[in-house]
Amino acid sequence: MTIELTTLINEALAAIAPAQTLAELEAVKVRFFGKKGELTQAMQALGALAPEEKKVQGQALNVAKQTVMTALNDKQHLLEDAILAQKLAAQAIDVTLPGRGQSFGSLHPVTCMQHDIAMYFSKLGFTIASGDDMEDEYHNFDALNIPKHHPARAMHDTFYFPDGHLLRTHTSPVQIRYMRDHEPPIHIIAPGRVYRCDSDLTHTPMFHQVEGLVVTEEASFAELKALLQDFMHQLFGRALAMRFRPSFFPFTEPSAEADIACVACDAKGCRICKQTGWLEVLGCGMVHPQVLENAGIDSKVFRGFAFGMGIDRLAMLRYQIHDLRLLFENDLRLLQQFDRL
Ligand code: DAH
Repeated sequence: MTIELTTLINEALAAIAPAQTLAELEAVKVRFFGKKGELTQAMQALGALAPEEKKVQGQALNVAKQTVMTALNDKQHLLEDAILAQKLAAQAIDVTLPGRGQSFGSLHPVTCMQHDIAMYFSKLGFTIASGDDMEDEYHNFDALNIPKHHPARAMHDTFYFPDGHLLRTHTSPVQIRYMRDHEPPIHIIAPGRVYRCDSDLTHTPMFHQVEGLVVTEEASFAELKALLQDFMHQLFGRALAMRFRPSFFPFTEPSAEADIACVACDAKGCRICKQTGWLEVLGCGMVHPQVLENAGIDSKVFRGFAFGMGIDRLAMLRYQIHDLRLLFENDLRLLQQFDRL
């Protein structure tokens, strides 16, 4: 190999070694292998040589090219590896760092309440029935002994659709639909949303009720009382005094409203029980024979008892939520306190 060629190789290797970036390396490549590159020109110069010399010189030049090319490639791999390593280091995940925290969803207090009510009654063998929010006048009123112009209709502040349908004002229509479709013995509860055109501090246009219905040959008021008393004990987790007051509902006879001893003040008298020591929690009674007949059940053979209660109010009492609106604002600070189940 000629001295010039050895020098050229050394120059090339000396240029390759300090290259810090792929661009710098590319410049070195161009300097030796580009159109006017030093090695390219040496190749071109071969043409002018005598055949014998051309052969020797050509071989030497090929070795030189190979040496420089290998050095270039090696360097390129080194630089690429370094770039990759840098990238990986920048994107590295430290699995030992604490996480950003997961926020778990929680159940709405009304949902918790509905769940517990359903658990209680299903353990006793009750079926959970449901109805549609949209009803017709017949099932919401007429079949329940509330004919047109009956004052009880006015009390319900009904939302009507233009076609005469309505948003159910209570869960009682589920009684009619269920009795119509099923033979006694019947044991159901029917939780769900109900609607009344009413909105103030203690009323919302949509609220939740749960209906209960038992139809057997021997259903009695005593059975109804015992069932509701036990239910309230379970729901509030302690023995609570309960009293039944005579009342009126068109679909039950006799009818009663039930109060429990105020859970906020232990019946001493407070703002929540309006100093009476009692809280009204539900309406109930023996199903009116006419209602049984309306639903196709022989009232000479079967008797029924029914009850209906507001779930929102029960949830407020149980969880000591003193403002009904809190149940509907969906403020996470309230909801996150109910992260059970
Ligand atoms: N439907 C009644 C209401 O919304 C509540 C009610 C009272 C339901 C007595 C009943 C019952 O099943 O027997 O005010």
